[in-house]
Amino acid sequence: MIKLNLNGKDHEFDAPGDMPLLWALRDVAGLTGTKYGCGMALCGACTVHVDGQPTRACVTPLAAVAGKQVVTIEAIAEQPAGKAVQEAWRKLDVVQCGYCQSGQIMAASALLSANRNPSDADIDTAMSGNLCRCATYVRIRAAIHEAARSLA
Ligand code: FES
Ligand code: FES
Repeated sequence: MIKLNLNGKDHEFDAPGDMPLLWALRDVAGLTGTKYGCGMALCGACTVHVDGQPTRACVTPLAAVAGKQVVTIEAIAEQPAGKAVQEAWRKLDVVQCGYCQSGQIMAASALLSANRNPSDADIDTAMSGNLCRCATYVRIRAAIHEAARSLA
C-alpha cells in the first residue's frame, strides 16, 4: 500500500511501487485528465505536480511519490495560479485538439506559482518540455501573460 496526498486528500494506492504514477492516476484512481503521450518524458502530456514541482508522471514510479503531495489537472483550479491559468485558457481559446493541454496547464500553473511576472524567455524555458502537435504555442504564451496579469 502506498500512501500519498492526492489532490488535497490522503490516498492509498494498492498497486506495485514500480507502476508509473501516470497509470496509478489513470487506471487505479480513475483520474483520466492526465494524458499519456510518449511515455518517455519527451512530450509533457502527463505533467502533474509533485510537491509543487512539474513532474512527468509517465517516468515517475508510484513508490517515488510516497508521502508526497500530488496534484493533477482535476484539482489545479483550487490553486490561485491554476485557476487564473484555466480562466486565461478559456478567455483566449487556447485549446485546439486539447490532448496536450492538461500538461500545458500544469506546467504553466507551476511557472506562475513560482514567478508571478514571467518574461517571454521565462515562459519559453518553463514550457519547452511541453509539446503541442497543434502548435498552440503563441496562444499558450499569451494566456500565461494574461493569467499573470489577472494574478497581479
Ligand atoms: S507521456 Fe510523459 S512526457 Fe510524454
Ligand atoms: S492542442 Fe492538440 S496537441 Fe496541443
